[in-house]
Amino acid sequence: MQRWTVDLDEKGWQDAPEAQEVCNAIRAGELVAIPTETVYGLAADATNGLACAKIYQAKGRPQFNPLISHLPSFEAAQQHGIFDEDARKLAEAFWPGPLTIVVPKQAASTISDLATAGLDTVALRVPAGPVMRFLSEKSGVPLAAPSANISGRVSTTNADEVANDLADALSFVVDAGACPVGIESTIVAVVDGTPRLLRPGGVAREDIEKALGRPLEAPSPTSRPDAPQAPGMLSSHYAPDAAVRLNAEEVRDGEALLSFGPNRPAGAENAVAEINLSQTGDLAEAAATLFTALRHLDRSGAGTICVQPIPMEGLGEAINDRLRRAAAPRP
Ligand code: TXA
Ligand code: MG
Repeated sequence: MQRWTVDLDEKGWQDAPEAQEVCNAIRAGELVAIPTETVYGLAADATNGLACAKIYQAKGRPQFNPLISHLPSFEAAQQHGIFDEDARKLAEAFWPGPLTIVVPKQAASTISDLATAGLDTVALRVPAGPVMRFLSEKSGVPLAAPSANISGRVSTTNADEVANDLADALSFVVDAGACPVGIESTIVAVVDGTPRLLRPGGVAREDIEKALGRPLEAPSPTSRPDAPQAPGMLSSHYAPDAAVRLNAEEVRDGEALLSFGPNRPAGAENAVAEINLSQTGDLAEAAATLFTALRHLDRSGAGTICVQPIPMEGLGEAINDRLRRAAAPRP
């Protein structure tokens, strides 16, 4: 695995010879890890079924759970998906940015059936992170990319975490530092005339509803193949080795503590290790720290990570979604 370190503040980073080498790897059907504003992506040419198969294999995804395809612009996205008025509103309001839109697939789309898991819909995203956008443009293909982590484990928000999980599978990791948003994109499906929230994420529900001028509905039973079959049955995901205990009002013997805000819980001084997601209670800061904090506390060796309550408003919905899955019973 080679590493291309990019300084986004430096003009002309796009002209580095590594840019061409990464594109060559993509065109040859190899896997590369690329940062976005949300998390690092395990990327491959979305039009190449064999390359997409390698993604599933490298992550150890148990079944073919469809992938998001990343594009450089809304214009490019429209070659692959059919956007009705609501979908168009969302693209115009939030792209480039941490929003994925699931729309009916264009008959002429070149995105492989393996990327969409054979569905007649496609998940499209124009990321704000400039590296993914640039590499899609330069390589001339949509980039299929799930989060760059072993399936079911905590997502990665810096290049060292990626290398730790996936070095053997990768030709390149592009290192552009830490991801500023820190949790995955919000996913909204607009396939049956009703915008539905499939996954909370980097754009808050409130902002999406404001742009649409109406509330987001729940997923329809058929719109999300990996959805829990019954209400309350949460699938385990984002799981550290340690157990996770939510809404902790006190720290128990031997626990590590994931705290939030200025008021620490009783017994905090006895925690095996502690990371505060945001001293000031800022949810954007908490989202940006979440996955790295979970990985760090996991390395403390504590059997359990206890988590202080986090409010449900704004990005809190996505943070609580990830934490609930991290705490869900393991397979
Ligand atoms: O921020 C992100 O979204 C990151 C970065 C790399 O862009 N990507 C990411 O991908 O989180 P992944 O594979 O971990 O999550 C993709 C989700 C899956 O839950 C999948 O079921 C859903 O998108 N999805 C993909 N295509 C879909 C479709 N056609 N219909 C419904 N859900 C779909
Ligand atoms: Mg993931």
